[in-house]
Amino acid sequence: MVDVPPLLLDRASRTPLSVQLADALRAATADGTLRPGDRLPSTRELAVALRVSRTVTSAAYDQLLAEGWVGGRRGAGTFVLSAVSPGPVGVTPAVDRVAPASALVDLRAGSPCLEVLDRAAWRRAWRAAGDEPPDRLPEPAGDPGFRAAVAGHLLRHRGLVAAPADVLATSGTSAAVTEIVRVLPPGSRVAVENPGYQRVVGALRDAGCVVVPVPVDDDGLVLDAVPADVAAVYCTPAHQYPLGRRMSAARRLALVTRARAEGWWVLEDDYDGELRYDVAPLPLLGALGPDVVVHLGTTSKILSPTLGVGWLVAPPALRDLLLERRTRTGMRPPRAGQRVLAALAASGDLARHLRRLRRELAGRRQEVRVAVAAAGLVAEGDPAGAHLLVPLTGPEEEAAVVAAAAAEGVALDGLGRHLGAGAADRAGLVLGFAAPGREELRRALVVLTEVLRGTRNDSDPASPEGDGALS
Ligand SMILES: Cc1ncc(COP(=O)(O)O)c(C=O)c1O
Repeated sequence: MVDVPPLLLDRASRTPLSVQLADALRAATADGTLRPGDRLPSTRELAVALRVSRTVTSAAYDQLLAEGWVGGRRGAGTFVLSAVSPGPVGVTPAVDRVAPASALVDLRAGSPCLEVLDRAAWRRAWRAAGDEPPDRLPEPAGDPGFRAAVAGHLLRHRGLVAAPADVLATSGTSAAVTEIVRVLPPGSRVAVENPGYQRVVGALRDAGCVVVPVPVDDDGLVLDAVPADVAAVYCTPAHQYPLGRRMSAARRLALVTRARAEGWWVLEDDYDGELRYDVAPLPLLGALGPDVVVHLGTTSKILSPTLGVGWLVAPPALRDLLLERRTRTGMRPPRAGQRVLAALAASGDLARHLRRLRRELAGRRQEVRVAVAAAGLVAEGDPAGAHLLVPLTGPEEEAAVVAAAAAEGVALDGLGRHLGAGAADRAGLVLGFAAPGREELRRALVVLTEVLRGTRNDSDPASPEGDGALS
């Protein structure tokens, strides 16, 4: 058995100790401190060594077991597995970057719903894209047919009037955010919703920006909490990620007004704006403030992130800076995926796909709400997109539910993963319902109801002492 590795746990942090411990052990496997085949201390020994409760060590081991980093049998011990490929050293893996063990049904947010994709239409679009001859020269703004298709898509599905010349192809939203902040002065401060999309937070930090977390209330990003000295504000007005509400009309107007007054760029991440199941969407920020807003769209939710295709519509001054940088650095989004999207749009297959997708996701959403209600809880969020929020009492309950579901073969995502520094004390599940097949989802929802009932009925909900804990 290996000695207890040096592990730093921050008791003042909002991140639950069990999550910190799982992260630290994962990092130790990645940097070679722990090696495949190493036997870990028992949950009891580790708890004593770290001066934490055994609940904490059990939950951390359960999480790592579910992710496939460790394996073991009760009584025989817990071992580091050899099949795990190390991630970047010293980086806390966000949950959406950790592939679940193949047996886990994935109820985390972020994945598209591939089950309703018409494979014949998909093949036709790739064939049509391949029929185009190769280009002699790169086009930094993107494929002309794609830009025209996106202009049509924005008008039809998002009510945004943009000429093809206003549209730039991107490799997706995170890539686009990186590009945009690279043309801001180095070290610029950027306000970001908290809770919010941590991949964008990562992209901003990577580009040398200072991230300013801003709370979110029922109307959206709390404008009064945005300091005047930021260069840009990133937000998800159509469907706040991960809380799932839309920004009110009044807040949208106020944001655009203040952006004009203070000289901010507003980055409008419209990641799943096409997926709304009730009322018509509110006007886009891009429509209210075309002079200050960069509207960002992506195919990651409506088709697949592997297509690597997105778009932006930016005020002309910013668009010119982006194009100048692309030309200077040789950076240009790949064209193949753009042509596939243009072909899907031209054939009408994209519109048909979106209709099917909306029908499917609205039905799934209802099933999730019923499953959560059966446990006496309420799944929150607008009728939109592919995720719902289930508030829980605190980080310990959140960790316990995630660990208990993982032990039953279901991967869940805690709200804690989406919180930055200074977030109000919030805990819950960010439940994604797009990734599994419909039948698989139904089976996973049965597990979810049971797990939520179990942890709620338990007088000591976070304590898996004894039965079920690996040691
Ligand atoms: C809030 C949010 N924005 C954007 C995206 C898509 O980003 P990208 O286009 O970089 O795949 C996602 C996907 O998970 C998301 O959750």
